[in-house]
Amino acid sequence: MGNSERLIQVRETWMSFPGKTPGEVIHVLENVNFDILKGEFVCIVGPSGCGKSTLLNILGGFLKETRGRVAVEGGPITGPDPGRIFVFQENGVFPWLTVEQNVGFGLLSRPRAEQTERVRHYLQMVGLAGFEKAYPRELSGGMRQRVEIARALAAEARVLYMDEPFGALDFLTRLKMRNDLIRIWQAEHKTIIFVTHDIEEAVQLADRVLVMSRRPATVQAEVAVDLPRPRDLDSPDYLAIRDKIFSIMGMDAYGGEREVSPPEEVALAGRG
Ligand SMILES: Nc1ncnc2c1ncn2[C@@H]1O[C@H](COP(=O)(O)OP(=O)(O)OP(=O)(O)O)[C@@H](O)[C@H]1O
Ligand SMILES: [Mg+2]
Repeated sequence: MGNSERLIQVRETWMSFPGKTPGEVIHVLENVNFDILKGEFVCIVGPSGCGKSTLLNILGGFLKETRGRVAVEGGPITGPDPGRIFVFQENGVFPWLTVEQNVGFGLLSRPRAEQTERVRHYLQMVGLAGFEKAYPRELSGGMRQRVEIARALAAEARVLYMDEPFGALDFLTRLKMRNDLIRIWQAEHKTIIFVTHDIEEAVQLADRVLVMSRRPATVQAEVAVDLPRPRDLDSPDYLAIRDKIFSIMGMDAYGGEREVSPPEEVALAGRG
């Protein structure tokens, strides 16, 4: 990426929620530390319920950490910001608006000609040219996710927070969406923080994978994925990184339980 400007800094960050009974506290995040550089594509993986979405919601300004310091784009987070957009697993598109109206939603204050041009450009980019007048109910799940991605890009989001955005899609659509997302990311130079519990997806997409532990979760390891793109999913290097992450998480790639890697094998987080 060449550019090593820090975009996100998370330091000694803890998060807990009140439990169901009085006085009960659910500890979700425990001393989380990491940085994300401008333009980076970072995936966050971890066991179900460990706090991945909670972490993303803190970064997005929807939740306030219980303790610690979180800075995005040079300052503390004061709330949601239109330059930092969420793409969720479930449809975030407005069902009562057409595809072009959905994509143009963040642009209503712009001159008409600019709106039209940006909508056209990003629909083309995500492969939805020709569907401008369609309503979301007329589209497949993959196409609806494309509408959401186009909307985020058209609104000039600098940062995309993606929470299992392809989780509801069938396998082949998911593969296609991953390739398209990489192509778009390379063209647009956005910073992407992408939560998934699919380790193979993470290694296919990311510059770096943050591996979270079970709840209360911390960043157990940071694994750099220094492989050329598009990535060869059969290459020994890809498989080695995938298996390393499985091993950090105490599993093998076939779902078997494994001894957790000794710490020296793990690139420990929490630097600086
Ligand atoms: N608002 C809330 N109030 C109370 N507990 C919450 C709240 N939000 C999340 N939690 C709890 O925090 C923990 C982490 O939830 P979170 O959704 O962040 O996990 P996750 O890693 O995204 O899980 P998944 O992989 O299933 O999406 C869970 O135990 C959840 O029940
Ligand atoms: Mg989640």
